[in-house]
Amino acid sequence: MNNIKDQKNLSQKIVLLRLDLNVPLKNKKIIDQTRIDKILPVINFLLQKKSKIVIIAHVGRPKGKTNEDLSLKPICENLEKKIKQKIRLINENVFNLKKEDLFKQTKDQIVLLENIRFYIEEEKNDLDFSKHLAKLGDLFVNDAFSCSHRSHASVCNITKFIPSFAGLQLETELNALKKVTSEIKKPITCIIGGSKISTKIEVIKNLIPKFDNIIIVGGMANNILNYKGNSIGKSIKENNCEPIIEEIFKTLKIHSCSLIYPIDVSTGKKMDDSSQVKELNQIEKDDFILDIGPKTINKIINTIENSKTILWNGPAGYFENPNFATGSLEIAKKIIEKNKKDLIFSVVGGGDTIALLNKIEALNNFNFVSTAGGAFLNYLEGKELPGIRALK
Ligand code: 3PG
Repeated sequence: MNNIKDQKNLSQKIVLLRLDLNVPLKNKKIIDQTRIDKILPVINFLLQKKSKIVIIAHVGRPKGKTNEDLSLKPICENLEKKIKQKIRLINENVFNLKKEDLFKQTKDQIVLLENIRFYIEEEKNDLDFSKHLAKLGDLFVNDAFSCSHRSHASVCNITKFIPSFAGLQLETELNALKKVTSEIKKPITCIIGGSKISTKIEVIKNLIPKFDNIIIVGGMANNILNYKGNSIGKSIKENNCEPIIEEIFKTLKIHSCSLIYPIDVSTGKKMDDSSQVKELNQIEKDDFILDIGPKTINKIINTIENSKTILWNGPAGYFENPNFATGSLEIAKKIIEKNKKDLIFSVVGGGDTIALLNKIEALNNFNFVSTAGGAFLNYLEGKELPGIRALK
């Protein structure tokens, strides 16, 4: 895998730069900027080399349709301020773009293509679309480690048509995760939460043989509670996951891994409600499960107390409402307490988890912070990520 930092003669070359600018947005406002901050080194590097940069990125899951709420405009404006340079956001249909027109306005050094997931071809890893994208530049750089678990056109097939390189941040994340996983100390606990159930539930079975404890919180816990016969009211859940959960419990029987999931919960009738702690048999039809309850928190804290390594991906509840942030905050507090005494090695990953820890200014209290959520879990599974394979 070649890295862009070792390339010479980048001056005036058009670099197609795949970034992960998928930051949490609320009413088109950026809630957490960490992912933007992490890609500043590659942009500054290319600016210094006098390259022309075409940024390719996505935000959210627009499923191939233009969706104004998922425009990259606020992210473009934020990035402009950070690098103190104009970035032209290109709204025009990508299929109508030509390489020779991209930098006609001579002052431009950076352009940003509007959300690449507005095109249905992106998630299909469509060959013609990838080829067309590749024609817009002289070389391609993937600096989106956190998107590299996706077999998408601007991550994978694009590399078939253009000289392709790893970016600075991608290499940093990959090296750090390699080191963490090769020097890992047992007992190892992995906490998986958040709302991207479909991405994460598939991974658990493969993690069971590698870890001593797996703690399931957030949206995915609802699927497990439901599978175990509990009502989950109106809470989020993924459909048709029963066979996967059955496999998870079967796999647990042949490995010495404990699966921990909520034994009590904190609920609300709507997302901006106050919290009501409930036993699992008290959940009503119109309840949303929005956090873990105090008994579950205690159980998790005891598990962390007995762990030497902790990998955490995804918040325990709907932390955007402070009434449902308790579970996540208590988990963070316990890890930080052990980290400060050097009693645990802690790795944290994923956009929402980073947003949560940034909010309480705790990011520096973890040994390693990965921008990656799903990619981080897929990496832990031991699989080569398709975006990394494509670069080779
Ligand atoms: C992420 O947030 O993990 C990446 O941007 C990938 O997003 P996705 O899960 O929607 O593919």
